[in-house]
Amino acid sequence: MALSFIHGIVVGIVLTFITLLALYNRCYYLSLSTFYSNNNIFHRTSDKRHSRNISYEGYQFFVFSDESPMVRAYLDVVRDTVCGLALRTQERAYVDNHMRPMDINQRIKGLDWPFTGITMVGQRRLINIEWALRFVIANGIMGDFIECGVWRGVSSIFARAVLKALNNNDRDVWLADSFQGLPKARTLHDTDIWSKMEYLKVSLEEVQTNFKAFNLLDDRVHFCKGYFVNSLPNCNISRIAVLRMDGDMYESTMDQLFNLYSKLQVGGVIIIDDYSIEECFRAIVDFRNWHNITEEILPIPGDETGRCWIKRKSIQLQKDQYVLLLPKTKS
Ligand SMILES: C[S@@+](CC[C@H](N)C(=O)[O-])C[C@H]1O[C@@H](n2cnc3c(N)ncnc32)[C@H](O)[C@@H]1O
Repeated sequence: MALSFIHGIVVGIVLTFITLLALYNRCYYLSLSTFYSNNNIFHRTSDKRHSRNISYEGYQFFVFSDESPMVRAYLDVVRDTVCGLALRTQERAYVDNHMRPMDINQRIKGLDWPFTGITMVGQRRLINIEWALRFVIANGIMGDFIECGVWRGVSSIFARAVLKALNNNDRDVWLADSFQGLPKARTLHDTDIWSKMEYLKVSLEEVQTNFKAFNLLDDRVHFCKGYFVNSLPNCNISRIAVLRMDGDMYESTMDQLFNLYSKLQVGGVIIIDDYSIEECFRAIVDFRNWHNITEEILPIPGDETGRCWIKRKSIQLQKDQYVLLLPKTKS
């Protein structure tokens, strides 16, 4: 009798424990699935991604529950160093053609032009690069990372740092740029104003030096040099998992889309840095309309200017539209 009473208590405790455990897991799963519904087309539960507020200014950071603290620490340090936040007391910024002390909130959103910082995309769009890479890795989307419009090269340096930290050895990083600034306008969609900006002219050698400073220049890094209209058709990249576009102009954006969108794998991520620049915005709208692209354009958390979408279907390129944008000698 006494034995079966004790037995009953033990069974009761075990059942209560199992019920509590199940309830806890369900809550955890639900919080994950809310996040996934917007961001994960394959709804994989193995990719334990959730967000938690851990920042000093109240911005949300992605936290990956199963990652090594060393990886997190390394990527946090690289990210905040390259955008100039780590040197906040020293850093300056160009705002309205004047050099001013850095405003941290502007830098986080990538709204100023850094003096020593070696990327102008800001902290939130760097986090977006890490998210995009982790997204394609988690979903098994094969292909490389390419940035078109690299300036001092550091969005790509950070991308290489992410792949290296995650010990991902089957993806390369590609950088496409003239390495001499933006071109003159070739159609009425753009003006020559961009081509006159000396600040945007950064040589290939300087970009390679920046890679070396982080010990990240290796045979996984490739450069496609030249104006996009000439260089991208000959760029040897075959499969793209993350396509990052940062060329400011209508024509630069179109050159990237017409030459690279077909190489972006279904399930891959396209990032538009300059969605708030009118010319770039119009190029995105035109290209999507011509190709009936309806994938939802996603904001970048905490950022004002960048956007991204996840490619869900292949398209048939409307090359006739592009011929009208090519230099006269090419059409
Ligand atoms: C705003 S900056 C890019 C910023 C950079 N992504 C970063 O992380 O700081 C624009 C870059 O695009 C390049 N660019 C724009 N249009 C181009 C074109 N048609 N061909 C080649 N390079 C171009 C410029 O040389 C410049 O380096």
